Parts: sequence; structure tokens; C-alpha cells
Amino acid sequence: MKRCLGVCYYPEQWPRNIWETDAQNMKRLGISWVRIAEFSWAKIEPQPYIYDFEWLDEVIDIMGKNGIKIVLGTPTAAPPRWMVDLYPDMLPVEQSGISRQFGSRRHYCFSHEKFVRHCELVVEIIAKRYGRNPNIKAWQIDNEYGCHDTTISYSAAALNGYQKWLKYKFSHNLGKKCNPIDNLNHAWGNNFWSMTYASFDQIGFPINCVTDPNPAHSLSFLEYCSEKVAEFNKRQALIIKKYSSSPITHNFMGKITEFDHFKVSDNLDFASWDSYPLGFLEDRISASESHRITYARQGDPDFQAFHHDLYRAVGNGRWWVMEQQPGSVNWAPFNPMPLEGMVRVWTWEAFAHGAEVVSFFRWRQAKSAQEQLHSGLQCPAGKKMPVTNEIQEISSELKNASEVKKSKSQIGIVFDYESERYWRIQPHGKGNSYFDLVFDFYRGLRKLGQSIDFISPNADSFDGYKLILIPGAMFMENKLVEKINEFSHTVLVGPRAGCRDRNFNLKGFSSFFPRFDLEIIASETFRPETPVRLSEEGCFVRYRELISTSAKILMKTESGDPALISNGNIQYLAGWPDESAMKNIFLRIFEDEKLPFKQMPEGIRERRNTGECFWFNYNDFEVEFEGFKIPSANFIRRELK
Ligand code: GAL
Repeated sequence: MKRCLGVCYYPEQWPRNIWETDAQNMKRLGISWVRIAEFSWAKIEPQPYIYDFEWLDEVIDIMGKNGIKIVLGTPTAAPPRWMVDLYPDMLPVEQSGISRQFGSRRHYCFSHEKFVRHCELVVEIIAKRYGRNPNIKAWQIDNEYGCHDTTISYSAAALNGYQKWLKYKFSHNLGKKCNPIDNLNHAWGNNFWSMTYASFDQIGFPINCVTDPNPAHSLSFLEYCSEKVAEFNKRQALIIKKYSSSPITHNFMGKITEFDHFKVSDNLDFASWDSYPLGFLEDRISASESHRITYARQGDPDFQAFHHDLYRAVGNGRWWVMEQQPGSVNWAPFNPMPLEGMVRVWTWEAFAHGAEVVSFFRWRQAKSAQEQLHSGLQCPAGKKMPVTNEIQEISSELKNASEVKKSKSQIGIVFDYESERYWRIQPHGKGNSYFDLVFDFYRGLRKLGQSIDFISPNADSFDGYKLILIPGAMFMENKLVEKINEFSHTVLVGPRAGCRDRNFNLKGFSSFFPRFDLEIIASETFRPETPVRLSEEGCFVRYRELISTSAKILMKTESGDPALISNGNIQYLAGWPDESAMKNIFLRIFEDEKLPFKQMPEGIRERRNTGECFWFNYNDFEVEFEGFKIPSANFIRRELK
């Protein structure tokens, strides 16, 4: 399969007489995929149950004639105005109780059954019409679940759905008592502050309490919301599959963790994500001001790669970038233009991590409405933007190159959306987050030149890896623990590993690590300015545990407490390491496992793929590395023997 370029196109926003020219120009630029229609519900179904496909037929036909393959979006992220008149209570509700209003997008609640049925209907009609159309080569369901804080809604429909879900759950498989509500009271430990319930319809949302809600209550609601997203996706996927054999995807977002992406992808054929390196640097990454300034026009050197690797795992090996920033965006606190060359770097970096397609957002900058200040490949009047030169360059590079490469790294990190929920509910200290902890480990490894795979906690085994990291997995299924125990190379677990059960109760450690005698005596969080020093270089920042163990101690704190312990190939880390502590830990493991590494210069990252090695320069200056000059905002690709 060849690596390809694509673009997001909104023909409904432009006069018909330019569609043909647009398609020809796309073709000329080397674009072979176009994604359309993901926000066009009002155009497809202008009134309830009255459909207009004539315009879409024509677009599909034009694209097909020009040899451009189509990703057809289901339009459910943008319900028309009449839908809100039909079902005023379909709108998502904020924590304050206020309904979010019509007038942008994603204004629906996943729990509103009548709305979801209407989605199924429109998807069925679209899939029936285009399922066998030879130009439709892929499907995208909805658009960016969870974006704009839309996973969670406190609507009446959500409350009803949540109560029923709890009742089902506690009637079937949890707790020891017979009465389901007693099961819940027991499992949640409600014999505390007189929080016991007499029936499921007494249970509200875990919000707006006088002080913290019971973490078990919060956890169950987040789990419910996550499952609703997966169910919504599945219902659409099953319909599309009845009519089409083209693969199905969803375009996930950067740093959205409120729902389990692995569960959504159970009903996808490949994953895709929307990469906005400069927008994310300003808007989403935990970083110092100086880091933001240094990389303002290049993006963070690890954030894109992190998501490429994560979504490769989510997509079970197959993934795309569905939207990539081609110039400045309109939505971050500051919206600079990328340094010349960076769009090409980002694109090749995605290919280096295994992307099949990199698709730009969007073909032409919008003339009207919310995204007027978002660049496209053309300005509204149709003039080419300077970035098209870079795209042209990538297209010619792709002609001679290179097939999509699949590869397996030697290092894997388990990313667990469930544990993320536990951290979100109980960070135990300001600013602590699961994502940031995992990201720190990822960055630490990349600074040592490593290529990394992410792994689902439910993967069958860790076979083929030499090092597995499981940072911060507060909740661990038995299956994960078994995998750890079966693995023969190094596993680094912790901090906070397996410390809570399914209902957020504290859990002893011995059952999780049969080969360890390990108990957390106490845990603490602290300000970044008051780290806990280690006896070797480095410290614990933010969080650490006081543990009792008879296992071998590999590292201690300055005051002599165990910081890193091991039993055979399993190591447990009792805190959140800073960069130099992490480096020490890694170097020791690399030596044991004979894993090669190199200290990367600031802003340079390596990615190895089957048969090729890339060095990406995120700096705005040239860097010399191992005898090669890597120009600023550029990269070097070498074939490996
Ligand atoms: C994405 C979204 C697109 C567009 C883009 C602007 O999150 O999927 O529809 O809004 O952002 O950067």
C-alpha cells in the first residue's frame, strides 16, 4: 500500500461550478483522498425525513472521475436545527444544569435514544445509497467524539440511562449481597457520611455535592459515559457494514481521554486522528512558557509522535492522520503560522510512524462562519497558499517512495483509559494527571532515541518486546497482571499500580504482584518546587510512595526509602521521576536488556521503522548529529540495511 495524501473538503460551502476545478487541482497537487460530508446533515435532510442527495451524487461523481478516492462522513456531529425542535431535550447539559445550545456542532447527548435512532436512520439511508458506490473507499463515523467537552452530559436522558445501567450492573455481576441496591452500597462503601441509597432512582450525578462526591460514584458515571460513546459508534458501524465493505474509521482528537478509544475501535477498521501541532502546543500540552516559545512555530517534538503511536495501537496497526494543520488555526490562545518546512516534517513524521494517509484540513479557507481564520491549502478567493509548495514537494517524494511500513518496536508502553479515569477523579495533588505521567515517560524514552509502541491493557501478550512500561495503572485487570507475570523481559510498573479495585476501594498489593511483597504505607504529593531527592541523580516530582518491601532495592531516596525495587524482571517505581531520575532508570534497563540508545540533541527525534530511520529537526536552526547536518524544520531519512 502506497503512502498517500488527502484533504478535507466542504463542497456544500462553495458554488457548484468550481467543484470540477477543485478536483482537478487536488489531483494536480498529488492528493488522492478527499473526506466529505461529515457536517452536512442539514443539506442531506433539510426537513425531517426529506432527503436531498442530488448535490452529493454530483460531488462523488466528480471526485470519482478525477480518480480521487472518497472518505464519506456520517453527518451526526452536526444535527440540523429542526432536530432540536423535534427533541429539545437532546441537547447536552452542562454541570450547572444549563443546556448547551444549537448554533455550532456536537450539540447532542449520547444518551438521548430518540436522537440516536434518528442518527441510525440517516446513516442507514446514506449507507444504502452509497454503500456500493465504487468511489466511496472509506467511511468516517461522526467527528471527533469528546471534542468541545462533549463526552459527558448531565441531561435527563443521561440520568435515566445511568440509573438503569447501574441497576443492571449491580443486579448481575457485582457485590455479595442479594439486593442490587445493597450490592451498590456495599461496593461503593456508602456506609460513610450516611450516603446509602434505598433505590437506584435516588442516585443522581456525582456533581454539585457540598464537597467531593464518592470517587466510586464518579468512576461509575465516567464509565457509563465512555460506554455510551462506544455504543453510539457501534450502532452506526453495524449499519454501514450491512451495505458496504469499505473500511470504517473515526477521527479521534489529541489528548482526549474521557472515553476508552480502544473500546470505540472494536468497531472500526482503522483509527485516525486530527493533528494540530501548533494549536495543541498552545492549547493542550502541559509545558513551561519557555518551551512554548521555543517551539511556537514547530510544535512540541513529542506530542504528534505520541498520538501517532497511540492511534496505531488503537487502530490495531492501521491508522491515518485525517486532519493536519496546514497553516495557522483559529482556536488556540495564539495562532502562529508554521515555520516553513514544518508541514512537510509533520507529514513525513506521520508516515515514519506508519500512517497510511495524511490528510490536510482543509482544501480552501472558509469565507464565512466560525473558521474564517483557519488556513486551508487555498485562500477563500482560490489563490494557492505558500504551503502548497511543501505539499507539492511531499507529493513528488511520495511518487518514488515508499510503501506504508509496519514495524514493531522493542519498547512498549501500556496506555489505559480506565486508569486515566482514576487519576482524574483522584489526582491527589494539583496538576497531576495520568496523561502527563505517561507523556513524561514517552518523552524520556524519545530523548534517548527510542521508537515506541503503545499497547492496550487488554492486548493478548507482551511477546516480542524487551521492555514494557506500565506507568500509573491505578486499576489493573487480572489479565494484565498475568501478562506481567508471564513476560520474561523487563517490566517497569508504578507508581500507583493496581492500588484500587473496580469500585475505587483501596487494594492491597500482594494479590497484584504475587512475586512481590510490596505494600504502600503512605503516599504523598507535593509542590514541584519541593521534590524528594534520590540518592543518585534526580528526584521524585509531584508524587511518591513510602513502601514496605523485602524485594531488592535498586534506588533509594536521599533519606533511605526504597524508590525503585525489583524482583527478577519486574521493577516497581514508587514515585513520579524527573528527567534525570528517569534517564538513570532507563539506562540501567537498557544495559540489562542490551537495548541500544543514543542521547538525542535538543529538538531532534529519531524514528525507526522497518528498513528506514528518520531524524526530525524541530529546531529553527541546523543541527549536526552523528556527522549529518539536519537543516532546521527538516528531516533526514536513511535506509537501514
Ligand atoms: C477539528 C475539526 C474540524 C475543524 C478543525 C479546525 O477539530 O474536526 O472540523 O473544526 O478542528 O482546526
